[in-house]
Order: sequence, then structure tokens, then C-alpha cells
Amino acid sequence: TSGKILIKGGTVVNAHHKEVADVYIQDGVIASVRPNIIVSDDVTILDATGKYVMPGGIDPHTHLAMEFMGTETIDDFFSGQAAALAGGTTMHIDFVIPVNGNLSAGFDLYMNKAKNSVMDYGFHMAVTKWDETVSEDMQIMVNEKGINSFKFFMAYKGSFMINDELLLQALERCKKLGALPMVHAENGDAVAEGQRKMIELGITGPKGHPLSRPPLLEGEATARAIRLARFVNTPLYVVHVMSIDATEEIAKAKMSGQKVIGEPVVSGLVLNDSWLWNPEFATAAQYVMSPPIRKSGHDKSLQAALSSGILQLVGTDHCTFTKTQKALGIDDFRKIPNGVNGIEERMHLVWDLLVESGRISVMDYVRITSTECARIFNIYPRKGAIMEGSDADLIILNPNASFKISAASHHSRCDTNVYEGMTGMGKVEVTISGGRIVWDGELKVKPGSGKYIKMPPFGYLFEGIEKADLALLSSLHSPSRIGRSAA
Ligand code: URP
Ligand code: ZN
Ligand code: ZN
Ligand code: ZN
Repeated sequence: TSGKILIKGGTVVNAHHKEVADVYIQDGVIASVRPNIIVSDDVTILDATGKYVMPGGIDPHTHLAMEFMGTETIDDFFSGQAAALAGGTTMHIDFVIPVNGNLSAGFDLYMNKAKNSVMDYGFHMAVTKWDETVSEDMQIMVNEKGINSFKFFMAYKGSFMINDELLLQALERCKKLGALPMVHAENGDAVAEGQRKMIELGITGPKGHPLSRPPLLEGEATARAIRLARFVNTPLYVVHVMSIDATEEIAKAKMSGQKVIGEPVVSGLVLNDSWLWNPEFATAAQYVMSPPIRKSGHDKSLQAALSSGILQLVGTDHCTFTKTQKALGIDDFRKIPNGVNGIEERMHLVWDLLVESGRISVMDYVRITSTECARIFNIYPRKGAIMEGSDADLIILNPNASFKISAASHHSRCDTNVYEGMTGMGKVEVTISGGRIVWDGELKVKPGSGKYIKMPPFGYLFEGIEKADLALLSSLHSPSRIGRSAA
């Protein structure tokens, strides 16, 4: 084939605009978007009449080939990305885990893990301990390695967790570098105490997981992180928002003019905690992730917050472990490797949940699954758009076809699927990655074809920050909540 593709007659959707048009792809980029494009015979033609042509999904939150809790995720960059492509996601941002706290060694390790990539990827850096070396290394990551976001853990006491003193320093450092700080917001001290109580009560099974870390501990840490970010005057990104408690803190902060981004994940939007109470260990353990999947009601609130713009984009936290791996915690829920799947299911589940049900527009779907992520991490409009010059990462979705999810047919290596049996409307029929058709009902992936996407510092979130700095300390004394930043 010539590598030239014409997608004819579909509704081309961007976050800002949609229209019926043809899309012409050449050399891995979008060459033209307009009605009635005429091409020569050597061009592959795809008819998208009655279908939507949209930017491929960008998953802002995945863990592939991650060593965690005494084991390693069953999906590596090959199987995880293949699954992603089959589900209409064409880029993901994974979290580099440093090697013994060393960022540069972690970066090198992850570049190696990702060398057989079948789609484009970027990295966030998890910061798992804090000292001068780490602080210096952060600058190398930002200026040389293409990383513009760092994740800090307010939970996982005894391993990844950092305290408030260190978190403050980390926030200052991110601001100085023009990097976006991300937080895993749960009160790790209280979680450890909750876990101790459960064990004392003889509760060692999976239900001890949600019982030991209720939503209020997520709300508390979210509020604390938001206030510290305000004190430092830096934007903040809260990963895996799972509860009403955390959502309300984000909403309040936004009302006061603070730049806080909340990322719900598919498991929190679609599932509730009912499986976690299942007496069968293997069944319940599948659903163990942190923060925990909450009681029914939190899911609806997260959906509402995402539909209304309080939460801005949707990730997965794809982090898969097999039944055998989950069984590491058979005698003690604290040892169940935390994580659930979602990289392949996200685009379908969000479409069915929010677009098919009439709650958001097709354009807003593109925004929350792709464009917003590209904008936040400063790679728009190369990614997240169907425009002349954008990378040719796109999907054709048929709104009148249905999907069905099962571990028997998914492309992840995991032997379970937390969305087992779910069905809905809207099917990704074609995925194009880097200008190649990689999914049309069958995977046609090419190891090594995926590129590392460097993410430059100083995204739009940072605009105006320096100017606002001087005014900040006095404005913090203002009594009003709404409009506080203008006082
Ligand atoms: O349970 C989870 N979320 N596992 C992945 C690690 C993390 O905290 O994101
Ligand atoms: Zn137009
Ligand atoms: Zn986390
Ligand atoms: Zn995660």
C-alpha cells in the first residue's frame, strides 16, 4: 500500500467543531480535511458515511510493565497498546517509576520497556521519594527528556508516600520548571491506621480495602493538596478522582479561580463497590484499586461532574494483574496488587455512558477523551485534533453498531475484565495510528512503529502565573470564596 488513506463522507469531529468532510492522510499526518476530496487510484479509501471520524483517544493515565506491590503488571507496552488500539485509543501517557528513587535511571528503564511500542506514548514521572538529587533530576527530565508532569503520592505509606513538607517543596519545584504537579490524593497516614484497624478486627479479605480508606480520606487529601497548590500558586492535576468528596473540593477550588484539573477514571464512572463485598476472594480482588471504587452514587456524581465540565478529561489507570497475581493478597487485603483494566474499554464505555445517553455532545466526547489531554500536556494540535498537519491518529466510530466486553475477546493479557459482560452502542470500527490502519476488526500492529512524544514545559495552564504571584499572598486574606483571586 502507498500509505495514503482517504476517509470519505464521515462526520469529522473536533472539540470545537464538527462537519461532514473527507480526511486525506499522507506520510503519517493529516494532509487535508474538506468535502469531496478527489484522489488517485493508489489511495486506500474508507467509507465513513453515517459514522463519526474522531481524533484517537489519548489515555492520560496508564501503568504498563510496572513493577508494583511485589509483582509486575501483566500488560506491557505491547499488549497494553494493542488493547488500546483495538479500543480506539492511539496515545497514552504512562507513569515512569524511578529506580530506587532515581529519575534518570527510571526514564532509561521505561524508554527501554517502550521500545517495541505499537502506538505513540508519552511519560509522566512518578516521584517516589524526595531529596536534592531528585529535585535536580527533575530539571533534566523537563528540559531534556520531554516530561512536563510529575506525580506525587499522598498515600502508600512506607513506600511511595511523601509528607506535606516534601510535597510543598515538590510543588515549588514543579512551578519553577513549568511542570504540572499531579497528586494521588488519599491521606496515607489515616489509610495505614484504617488498615491496622481492619486487621485488628479480623477483616483480612478484600472488603477490608474499601473499609480502611473511605471517601473522606480522599476528600481530605484532595482539599489539602489544592490548598497547598494555592499557597504555592501553581496549577494542580488530581489523578483518579473517585468520590463526591474529592469532586466537591475540585469544584470549590475552580469557583475560586484556581487552576485545578480533576481526572476521573472509567472504573469510577462506570462501576460501584458491590463486587468488593463478594465473599469469593478472586471476584472481589479483581476490583481492588486505590482510591477504591466507591458506593453507588459516587459514580453518578462523577458522571455529572464530567458532563458539566467540573472534571475535564477521563483516564483509565489501566494497571492489570491476573487472578494469580491478585492472589498474593489471599490472606491479607493489603497485599492485593492494586489496579484494574480499562485502556481498551474507555472509548466505548464513555461513548455509551455519556453520548449515547444524550448527556454530552459528540464534540465534548472528543474533548474529554482526547483534546483536553493534548492541551493540558502541551501537545495540541499535533495530537487531539483532526486538522491539517496533525498526526494521523484517528478512529471511525459507528454509532449504530454495538460493543460487548469480555475477557474472552479482549486484547489485554489479563485473564479477567472488570467490565465483563457489559454491552452498549457505539463501536470503534477502524483505528488509524501514525497514518496506518491498525485496527479494522483485526489488529495489524507493527512493533517499533510507536513514537515517544516529548511534552514541552509551560502549557497554557501556566499562563499568567508569574503576574499573579505578587498579588497572591495578599489575596489569600480575602474572606470571599468566589472571586477570591480577583480580590
Ligand atoms: O490502584 C491503583 N490505582 N494502581 C495503580 C497505582 C496508582 O496509584 O495509580
Ligand atoms: Zn470546518
Ligand atoms: Zn495513584
Ligand atoms: Zn495510576
